[in-house]
Amino acid sequence: MSKTAVFTASFDPVTVREIQAVRALMKKEHIRTGYLYVRSEGILDRKRRMFLVRLAVKAYRHLSVCDKIPAGIPVYPLDEDSEQEVRNGNFRAAARGIRRALNDQGDYYQEILDHLCKPSRAAHARSTAELCRKLAKAHGADEKTAYFAGLLHDITKNADPDIQQNIMRIYYPELMHYHPNVWHSFTAVNKLRDDLCIHDRKFLNAVFTHTLGDGKSRLSKILYIADKTEPTRSWDCSREVDLAMKDLTAGRDLVYQEAQEYMEREKHV
Ligand SMILES: [Fe+2]
Ligand SMILES: [Fe+2]
Repeated sequence: MSKTAVFTASFDPVTVREIQAVRALMKKEHIRTGYLYVRSEGILDRKRRMFLVRLAVKAYRHLSVCDKIPAGIPVYPLDEDSEQEVRNGNFRAAARGIRRALNDQGDYYQEILDHLCKPSRAAHARSTAELCRKLAKAHGADEKTAYFAGLLHDITKNADPDIQQNIMRIYYPELMHYHPNVWHSFTAVNKLRDDLCIHDRKFLNAVFTHTLGDGKSRLSKILYIADKTEPTRSWDCSREVDLAMKDLTAGRDLVYQEAQEYMEREKHV
């Protein structure tokens, strides 16, 4: 028996459910060799999607990727619904073996940001990300990581308040005394770790500390400064940014001090 078949989808990206469907069909139809064909349309370019499918099928001896559909063999189009789940911010729905690659390149981060955040919040995140990149470049830090931290730091800012409160109750009861406006820094870590499968501790810690400004790492300082001084903020931050480009700690201290003064003033208004 050497029955062969092709399974087609956009694989944007390839998901757990698609791989499961392929394996179930192969078993049911007694197919020995399966080829996965990546259709042309998709958010990621086709080469990238093919690369991800290759990673996903590495673990399966009888599965491989084909560039063209060979003539004369059965073709099974797959249900692609589960791909949307990934693009909405659930990387656990992505096929095993590709989640790290998605995070390495920040695949779908822009789509996830637009899905989870209001347009004004997404614009702030993009602007923060750009400034993070500049600060990282000025201080020899990893630009890509800093950019991604900026992009994702407010990912739960527009999340349902009841869900945020539940996460706080379960994971951070000792931090519930902070104002609910601060909670998103903590709940973002759960989202990034549990749904986006990001496990870089420095990255998560920078997000965790981005509101209170108590992070010690270079990345934490970069994110804290960029979040407070990015150009869509309605006040002039050129003095703070100029200082931070020269001296990160001095820049962070100045921004921190000004934030404290602002909060004091607000209390007395
Ligand atoms: Fe924030
Ligand atoms: Fe922010």
